[in-house]
Amino acid sequence: MSDTDSVDFFTDRELLANPYDYLAALRDECPLRRENYHDVVMITGYDEGVAIYNDTERFSSCISVTGPFPGFPVPFEGDDISGLIAAHRDEIPFFDQLPTFDPPVHTAHRALLSRMITPKRLKENEEFIWRLADRQYDTALSDGRCEFIGEFANPFAMLVIADLLGVPEADHAEFREALLTEVGTIGSSEGETMQHSPLEYLYGKFSEYISDRRANPRDDVLTGVASAAFPDGSTPEVMDAVRVASNLFAAGQETTVRLLSTAVMMIAEDVDLQAKLRANSDLIPRLVEEALRYESPVRGDFRLAKVPVTVGGVNLPAGTTVMLVNAAINRDPRKFTNPEVFDIDRGNARQHVAFGRGPHSCPGAPLARAEAKISLQRLLERTSNIWVDEDKHGPHGNHRYSYLPTFILRGLTRLHICFE
Ligand code: HEM
Repeated sequence: MSDTDSVDFFTDRELLANPYDYLAALRDECPLRRENYHDVVMITGYDEGVAIYNDTERFSSCISVTGPFPGFPVPFEGDDISGLIAAHRDEIPFFDQLPTFDPPVHTAHRALLSRMITPKRLKENEEFIWRLADRQYDTALSDGRCEFIGEFANPFAMLVIADLLGVPEADHAEFREALLTEVGTIGSSEGETMQHSPLEYLYGKFSEYISDRRANPRDDVLTGVASAAFPDGSTPEVMDAVRVASNLFAAGQETTVRLLSTAVMMIAEDVDLQAKLRANSDLIPRLVEEALRYESPVRGDFRLAKVPVTVGGVNLPAGTTVMLVNAAINRDPRKFTNPEVFDIDRGNARQHVAFGRGPHSCPGAPLARAEAKISLQRLLERTSNIWVDEDKHGPHGNHRYSYLPTFILRGLTRLHICFE
C-alpha cells in the first residue's frame, strides 16, 4: 500500500486544513488515480479534467453533487449504462436540481435559467450589490473588529441572489431568518452533503411567487422570472421554474462566501499584498482569479461514465465514478507554474476550473466575480489597515483556521479580522 492508499479523502479530517499534499501525491502517481475507499477515480490533471467536463456525451452529471454517496440504486451491468441512469435517476439525491441534469433536459433548463437571469437583470443587480456592500459594512465595520463570514459575507451573498430574482425587499428579513443557519451558512457545513431543508423553504416561497405572478402579472422582476419560457416556446411547469430559481441559492451562496473569505484572509495575512491592492484597485480582479485557483471553493464535481472511455491513456469502464477535483486540477504544475505559490501576477490564473467547464460551467461566475470585486474594493476603501484577529486565530506566524468539514466545499468556517 502506498501512502496515498491509507488516506480517505472523503472522511479524513486531517485533510480539511491541507488537502493539497495528498492531492499532489495522487497526481504524481497518476492524474487519473482510483482512491482506495469509495471506488472513485480522482481526476487531478488539468487536461484530463477539462476533457471530462466537456464530455457530456459519455459522462453523466446525475451524481454531480453526491458522488459515491449514497451509491447508485442498482448494480451496473453491461457496456452502456445510459438506460440504467434514465430508469433510476430520480432515486438519486438532488435529481431535481440543474447540476444533476443531462442533455437534452439540461440544455432546456439551462436556457430557461438564462431567460430568467438576463444581462439587463445582472446589470441592475450590480447596482444593488454596491449599495448592499455599503449597507452591510456600515454594521460590520462599526467596531474595529468583526467576524467577516457571519457579519458580512453570508447575508451579503444571500441577499444578492434574493435581489437578482426580484424577491421583494419586504421579504429579505424573512429569507435571512429562514436560510442563514446558526453558523450563518445556507444549508449545512456539518454534513457531508448539502442538506435539503433550506431548499424546501425556497420551493415554498418561489411556488407562491411564481403562481401569484402568473395569475397577476406586475411590472416587476419576479413576473419576468415567472414568465420565462423554454427555448421551444413552451411554458415550464411552476415547479420547473421554482427549482431553477431556488437552485441559485444552493449553488451561489456558500461558494461565494468561501471565495470572499479566502480573498479577505489573503489580504489580512499579507501586508505587502494589501499595500499593493490599496495602491492599485485595478489589481483586485487578479486577486479574485488567483484566490479561485488557489483555494477553489468547490473542491470537485462528480461524473459517471456511461460507456467505456479512455482519458489520458487510462481506460475507465462504464459505471466509473470520477471526481473532477478542482482543488487539484487548479494546482496541476503542467498548467500552473509553481502552483503552491499564491501569485496575483500569474498570467494564466483565469484559466482555472473553479467554475467548472463545458455545458454545466457556472452560470453565476460573472455574479460571483462582481460580488468579490465590489466587496473587496469597498472594504479596502473603507479601511486603512486590515489584519487577522490574533485573539481568535492565534499569534502572528501561527494563525489557526478551521475549514468546512465537507468534501464538497473548501473554505473557512470563521474569519475574525481587525481593522482601522
Ligand atoms: C465563487 C463562487 C462560485 C463557485 C466557485 C461556483 C462553482 C460552480 C461549479 C464548479 C459549477 C459546475 C458544477 C458541475 O459541473 O457539476 C457550478 C455550477 C452552477 N453554479 Fe456556481 N459557483 C459559484 C457561484 C455561483 C453563483 C453566485 C450562482 C448563482 C447566482 C451559481 C449558480 C450555479 C448553478 C445554477 C450551477 C449549475 C449549472 C448547471 O448545472 O448547468 N454559482 N458552480
